[in-house]
Amino acid sequence: MLDLEAIRSRFPALASGDVILDNPGGTQVPRAVTDRIVRYLHETNANHGGAFPTSRASDEVVAGARSAVADFLGAARPEEIAFGPNMTTLTFQMARSLSREWKPGDEIVLTRLDHDANVSPWLLAAADRGATVRWLDFDPADCTWNVEHLRSLVCERTKLVAVGWASNSVGTVNDVAGAAEAAHAAGALLYVDAVHYAPHGPIDVALAGADFLACSAYKFFGPHLGILWGRYDLLERTFAYKVRPAGDAPPDRWETGTQSFEAIAGTLGALEYLAWVGESFGGDALPALAGRHEGRRPALASAMTAIRAYEATLSRALLEALDAVPGLAVRGLTDPLRFDERVPTFSFTLSGHSPRAIAEELGRRGFRVWDGNYYAVGVTERLGLEGTGGMVRVGAVHYNTPEEIHRLGTVLREIARS
Ligand SMILES: Cc1ncc(COP(=O)(O)O)c(C=O)c1O
Repeated sequence: MLDLEAIRSRFPALASGDVILDNPGGTQVPRAVTDRIVRYLHETNANHGGAFPTSRASDEVVAGARSAVADFLGAARPEEIAFGPNMTTLTFQMARSLSREWKPGDEIVLTRLDHDANVSPWLLAAADRGATVRWLDFDPADCTWNVEHLRSLVCERTKLVAVGWASNSVGTVNDVAGAAEAAHAAGALLYVDAVHYAPHGPIDVALAGADFLACSAYKFFGPHLGILWGRYDLLERTFAYKVRPAGDAPPDRWETGTQSFEAIAGTLGALEYLAWVGESFGGDALPALAGRHEGRRPALASAMTAIRAYEATLSRALLEALDAVPGLAVRGLTDPLRFDERVPTFSFTLSGHSPRAIAEELGRRGFRVWDGNYYAVGVTERLGLEGTGGMVRVGAVHYNTPEEIHRLGTVLREIARS
């Protein structure tokens, strides 16, 4: 059981009294993050690889953060983690590198459920190489796709399958391990966008069977920083666009230019916070771990398992609150028996009110929510909502409470009546 009072007291932004439900666009940060950032800039601010103490200390902070991220994702070794500006930029970088080998007639599979950061980089790379794009559609009734359909799309010409672990638009959690099996059976690589799943549940890249996985620290309680995990052998042998003096071994060959060391330090702070959650409230929630059991891995896996369990309560509260609003239609999974297939990210439309007008009215009343397509443009297009302002999205994380969601329901019912 999470102690919400203890958890919330660690996040200065929660003192505003606002109900923060724009979390899929970026979460708030615990004090551990800002403390790390300030300490980095005040005490160890120096570039990489120098012969003097602050440069060495800076490199140590980065190494500590890399190990912590490896523990968070279940990576086999820290060198499998590369930092970058954000997930989108890292994915463009990887698409450029991986597609160097593609030829006309080769194929890739993309989904209509993904954020465009896991679509456009591959679409553009395929266009550059003359490769064919196959689309994995989703069922508009519940916004899920199935692995059988994916299996029918791959063949010996498939080079890459790109899927999201969870949808930032409608909250669906996808069968990543099934996608890995399907991709690998055809000899293709699997690239996973875990940006939306990372704050909600445990990630184990080995169990998932991914070849590459990207996420963003600002979505899991850290600062703005992109993270790429790749299988070491792939990071080592895939062509990297890099400057000549940069190291040839992973991760150096993937980290182009000077990194945001303060953001890397802050990410370490976020993972120290999550390890505290695991140690304090994880109890016996520790899942079976593949691979390493070292460092912060058990505490982080335990935290994310406890968070996932708590968030099922938030999903039920959200569904109940939204269901009670006349004229409101939730898009995505609404069967509570299938809530292990979703995270508490709900999108909806309300008849007679545009998504922007609802978000504005909620904003005036202290509820921070998003509206539009949130860059998951394939979803709003498929649902026929792209031309009508998209949807309103309310996305809870573990610092939200059922009481906040109850208040949201009350206000939405008032808006529906107005
Ligand atoms: C599911 C998903 N993937 C990718 C991204 C892009 O991440 P970044 O902002 O780090 O480029 C986002 C951002 O909203 C997202 O929600």
